[in-house]
Amino acid sequence: MNEAFDRAWAAVEELEPAPLADLFAAEPDRLQRLVIEEAGLRFDFAKTHLSAANLPVFLALAEAAGFAERRDALYAGAEVNPTEGRAAEHPAERGEGAPESVARARALHQRMRTLIDAIEAEALGPVRHILHLGIGGSALGPKLLVDALGRDAGRYEVAVVSNVDGAALAEAIAGFDPHATLIVVASKTFTTGETMLNARSAMAWLEESGVADPFSKLVALTASPDAALDFGVDETRILPFVDTVGGRFSLWSSIGFSAALALGWDAFESLLEGAAAMDRHFRLATPERNAPLLAAFADRLYVNVTGAGSRAVFAYDERLRLLPSYLQQLEMESNGKGIRLDGMLVGRATAPVTWGGVGTDAQHAVFQLLHQGTQIVPVEFVAAIEPAHGLDPAHHEQLLVNCFAQGAALMAGRPSDDPHRTYPGDGPSTTILLDRLDPRTLGALLAFYEARVFANAALLGINPFDQFGVELGKEMAKAMDGEGEMDFDPATSALIARVFGE
Ligand code: F6P
Repeated sequence: MNEAFDRAWAAVEELEPAPLADLFAAEPDRLQRLVIEEAGLRFDFAKTHLSAANLPVFLALAEAAGFAERRDALYAGAEVNPTEGRAAEHPAERGEGAPESVARARALHQRMRTLIDAIEAEALGPVRHILHLGIGGSALGPKLLVDALGRDAGRYEVAVVSNVDGAALAEAIAGFDPHATLIVVASKTFTTGETMLNARSAMAWLEESGVADPFSKLVALTASPDAALDFGVDETRILPFVDTVGGRFSLWSSIGFSAALALGWDAFESLLEGAAAMDRHFRLATPERNAPLLAAFADRLYVNVTGAGSRAVFAYDERLRLLPSYLQQLEMESNGKGIRLDGMLVGRATAPVTWGGVGTDAQHAVFQLLHQGTQIVPVEFVAAIEPAHGLDPAHHEQLLVNCFAQGAALMAGRPSDDPHRTYPGDGPSTTILLDRLDPRTLGALLAFYEARVFANAALLGINPFDQFGVELGKEMAKAMDGEGEMDFDPATSALIARVFGE
């Protein structure tokens, strides 16, 4: 980072965004400039405070931060994750990357496909249930895909178990026939405590249930094939991906296996194609018309200029109810950092807290704060034009009019003589409208969020691909469990003594 970077940031931090109403009055071409249609998605940034006046300031920041060079380095497979000494090759999983990485990803997908064919031909015995065990990036993506796209598939019953709380595993297996259950252990490292304990308990359940060869029903999705072999997984059922694919970016790799099996290979391939279409947009669109980059500009505007501490995502689509939790990991684990790539303090706010829910439910629970609370919360609405059901069309009309009305109300506000009934307005929102929710548009949507995370990281000068922040707590838990020495504060020691009697 250099003086030009500091100057560009100073210019951003001095911005005084005009009210939305003034922007609409002064900029009749807002919709032409701030609505982008790409890959079956319509991104509408018109109700954000991005403007003809401040866009050049953000474009200058992108230039000074070397955004284009960093993005091109990502897609070229260069070492964009220097703190872990490696590239970030999730785009190659969908065909957008260095040729040798794309070829390697294709070979992995072929291997996944062969195993899916074998399972469908009952080569592993009957399979009706899929028990996917993983946590964080090894769970959230597959869970979202199956929940969003698998409701009508009816091919397999899938349970994704992540929590080490045995209640989660017990609940999942209670409804499963052990003789028809495939155990899929998803762990990049194959050492994560929660996942390994769940895997051991699941295997014990098969054994105790009299399954003749429990290991014949075990599949491993991992970047550590040796650890999976040591665990007892047969080599033919290990689907190894490369360690340059990070956990929260891994659903495109073999981590997506359970979803590909449940949804069918064609659906998985469409998901990859949709993501690749968004990759191409991110790579090739001009900065002024680049949806992930514009979204990152708006993120920086709200976090660094108007002081927003969070951003809220509301899916007006029941099938996308898990999107906020998926995005929490993607955004907060990636950009929840305080140190720049050059080792210096960032010195300004980085990732806001991502939270959200599903519309219309959230309107009746948390929207009070959005309309009249004391904090600025940029809101994102995500909805699909086509309904997912054949019920009375009134359902979908109601859903969409509620979604649009909330964005309009946040922006317009309403004065009143009664302060309690006053709506201050000028509340920012972005609307992402999908033509329909299908594997292709979902792939494009998730790739858009990945690209936005990357663009934000580039503007801040941070590395979105490491996650050292999660390590200390893990180490302390291990020490408490007897693996390693560590001193604890008096309050924690008292808790340990109270529960474990030590
Ligand atoms: O603890 C955080 C984390 O490392 C995430 O980044 C990752 O997605 C998750 O744990 C699971 O890790 P693994 O896939 O190695 O089990």
